[in-house]
Amino acid sequence: MSEFAIRWNERYQNNDTPWDSRQVSKELKRVIEEHQIKPARALELGCGTGTNAIHLAQQGFEVTAVDFSERALETAAMKAHEANVEIKFILGDLTDLHLAVTPFDFLFDRGVYHCVRNENLPGFLNTLKKNTHPGSLWLSLSGSTNEEHDEHIPKVSEEDIKQDLGGLFDIVQLREFHFEDEGERQGPLGWSVLLRRKEN
Ligand SMILES: C[S@@+](CC[C@H](N)C(=O)[O-])C[C@H]1O[C@@H](n2cnc3c(N)ncnc32)[C@H](O)[C@@H]1O
Repeated sequence: MSEFAIRWNERYQNNDTPWDSRQVSKELKRVIEEHQIKPARALELGCGTGTNAIHLAQQGFEVTAVDFSERALETAAMKAHEANVEIKFILGDLTDLHLAVTPFDFLFDRGVYHCVRNENLPGFLNTLKKNTHPGSLWLSLSGSTNEEHDEHIPKVSEEDIKQDLGGLFDIVQLREFHFEDEGERQGPLGWSVLLRRKEN
């Protein structure tokens, strides 16, 4: 287990998880509706305790969800069982992920790309490449450098997104939004970026 995985797992063990709103992402719902994304093979990158993976499964997506925190996945599996949905949960590292499966049509991450780019961006890009096909869509929600105050979230600029991901993906839509926080509070400012995998 990497030192990153140990640290994230400790945060779940200590209930130090301010990102875990336990609410389905409104941005995920909006994008699926507005872009008419039909149920397909979906991969959630860094699913945490599974709220959005469960939502996708309830919408008819065939969901695989990856995280490298054992504790988060235990909670996610319990919640999926309670919700009576089937999700393939995988304990794995997104910077070095070997899934011997057909590539996914739709990827989703909430607050994960902005972390993993600081762990090992080339490894993450390799995982993205191996697990998508030209035309695959990816909705990524990340913290924004346009907000100075909130310290508890990694931040990226529009330029970072284009530089990190522009080689492999075209940007379909990029806009600002606010993360959900616990309760009804508005969370930090973020980027919602819908990407489409380029031809090889
Ligand atoms: C900010 S949390 C977001 C969790 C979830 N997406 C949510 O919205 O509640 C980041 C998640 O990414 C996971 N993560 C970070 N780096 C990872 C990696 N290299 N491989 C797998 N999971 C990773 C962490 O364990 C954590 O669950």
